[in-house]
Formats: sequence, structure tokens, C-alpha cells
Amino acid sequence: MRIYSRILGTGSYLPARRLSNADLAAELAQQGVETSDDWIVERTGIRARHFAADEQGCSDLATEAARQALSAAGLAAQDIDLIIVATSTPDMVFPSVATMVQHKLGAAGCPAFDVQAVCSGFIYALTVADSMIQSGSAKRALVIGSEIFSRILDFKDRTTCVLFGDGAGAVVLEASDQPGILATDLHADGKYKDILCVPGHVNRGGILGDPVLKMDGQAVFKLAVGVLEDTARASLAKANLTDADIDWLIPHQANIRIMQSTAKKLKLGADKMVVTVDQHGNTSAASIPLALDTAVRDGRIQRGQTLMLEGVGGGFTWGSVLLRY
Ligand code: UT7
Repeated sequence: MRIYSRILGTGSYLPARRLSNADLAAELAQQGVETSDDWIVERTGIRARHFAADEQGCSDLATEAARQALSAAGLAAQDIDLIIVATSTPDMVFPSVATMVQHKLGAAGCPAFDVQAVCSGFIYALTVADSMIQSGSAKRALVIGSEIFSRILDFKDRTTCVLFGDGAGAVVLEASDQPGILATDLHADGKYKDILCVPGHVNRGGILGDPVLKMDGQAVFKLAVGVLEDTARASLAKANLTDADIDWLIPHQANIRIMQSTAKKLKLGADKMVVTVDQHGNTSAASIPLALDTAVRDGRIQRGQTLMLEGVGGGFTWGSVLLRY
């Protein structure tokens, strides 16, 4: 009998500090950087984002989201036997955010590690957790996407600094004989490294290179639109399902125009797509679990529905997870 990974509970966390486009534009204006609510809304669909407080680390956001997901699942931290965190903005070079979350939750002993696939990170982490559950090496996994992109933004570069926000989202997966994750699909192509990257790194006690996000927005846009359709179709084919079987599309929340274009290619109406980019901005690996938790908590997503989760990001990486909720 096939073992499935089923979502038992979801959770999320947004830092308290919320900046509308007007708030951010006013702050940027003080540094001589010009932008506007109109431009940001029209080109991206973003209206607001949250930024973490100075004393918060990625593991703090992740732990809050994990606590909520555990509570929704009706489990204690000790019930978990695997922790995976998707992030590109860890507290430290090492140890991993996952081990810090494990310690903060009081779940010592189980394997805990990070996955780094930038905005596709949560899709990668979910796929790895699903494989470990299917192989029998884990029974109850905590899978988290957590990011503090505000730490790697260049607030003098208006083409990137208005796009991103901070946050975390989490799910608890459990081995089950009832469907769960139906199909997964992962890809990467390293030749695109320079169109979305943070080139700086720690070197002999200093930072070598520029430690802020660089993006060729139009190149990313074009690639994203193509691969998001391809990966959704690949997951559907693996599960012998079609576009019409999707109840909810939960895409990476980077730009409403990319999301709408993907939905159109999959012949899905706007009412079948979960949109949080307007309130959260692009939270990289946290965006999909944040959107999922939002729609679970407001009652849109119901048990038994079919969900298409898909992401694309730096690397380039992309992929999808098709699941029965
Ligand atoms: O999570 C990873 C995935 N990342 C993404 O999916 C991002 C994908 N790319 C995008 O979302 C879009 O390409 C952007 C939102 C980044 C840019 O939108 P665009 O429609 O491609 O704009 P553009 O780069 O062609 O810029 C158009 C104009 C330029 O002015 P000129 O050269 O036409 O005079 C920019 O200088 O808009 C200007 N501009 C701005 N103006 C006001 C760029 N950023 C801003 C800004 N405020 N923040």
C-alpha cells in the first residue's frame, strides 16, 4: 500500500512591523530614492509587506510558524521526527536554522536541516520530506519556509527593495494511507545564476563581494512564466490529473502579473488562485506556506480539495507539489 504525506496542520508568522507602499516610499524618499504606490501596485500587485525587528532572526519567525502548525495539527514538538527549513536568509552561516528551531521548540533528537533553493525552497523542502515519509524514514515532519529578505536588500535600488518582505509559514506532514501529496516535480538550471543572486559571501573574517540582492527583473519574469506552466503540467501528468482537477492554485507570490499569467495558462479563473502578494510582498521560501495557511485559516481551502503549489526562484530553481488537502 502506498504511503502518502498528508498535511495535518498549517501555521504562519508575520513580523509586527507592516509597511504600506506609501510608508516605504516615504522612508526611501528620505534617502533620495523615488518610488510610488501607483508604480508598485501596477507592476507587481504589492500593497504592503512586513519587516522583522532587528532582534529577530529567521529561526524566530520559523519557530512561531512551527508552533502554530503544531497546534493546528494537535501535536507536541516531541511528536515530530523530522524538521526541514527552507531559507536563503539563515541566522548564521551555520548551524542550520532547522537545528535552532528544533532547540527552541524543545524537540531534541530528530534530524533537522536546511534546504536552500531560494523562492522554490519550500517546494524543494516539501518534496524531500515527502520522499523521507514515503521511504519510511520519517513519520511526522515539520516543513517550514522562513525568510528575512529585508536584511539582504539594497534600499538604494528601487527596482528590488520594494518587492520583498519577511515572514514564515509551516506545515506538519504525517504518513498516511489516505492521499496527501500526489506528485512532485523539481528542476534547476545553474546557468541562470546571475539574473537573481546575492553575490557577497563571508571570506577570511570579512565580506567579499556585494551582500545584497541583484535581479534582472525582466529576465526572471520571462523565465518564471514559462517554467511555472511546465512544472504544473508535469505534476498533473504524474498524478493522471488535468487542469480541471485543481481546486486551488497556490503559486509563489512574487508578482501578480506572473501569477495571473500562470493561472490563465492552466485555464484557472482568478477565484481559484490564492493571492497574498498584495499584503506580504515576495517572502521567497515563505510565500507559498504563508499563502496556504492564510487560505486554510480563512476557510477557503477545505479538506479533500486538490491543491497545486508551485515556485520559482534563484538558481534558477523551480518545481511543484500537487496534493490532496
Ligand atoms: O522571487 C523571485 C522571482 N522574482 C520575480 O518574479 C520578479 C520578476 N520580475 C518582476 O516582477 C518585474 O520585472 C519587476 C516588478 C521587477 C519590474 O517590472 P517591469 O515592468 O519589468 O519594470 P522595468 O524593470 O521594465 O522598469 C520600468 C520602469 C523603469 O524606468 P524607465 O527605464 O522606463 O524610465 C524603471 O527605472 O520603471 C522604473 N522603476 C521604478 N519606478 C518607480 C523600476 N522600479 C521602480 C520603482 N518605482 N520601485
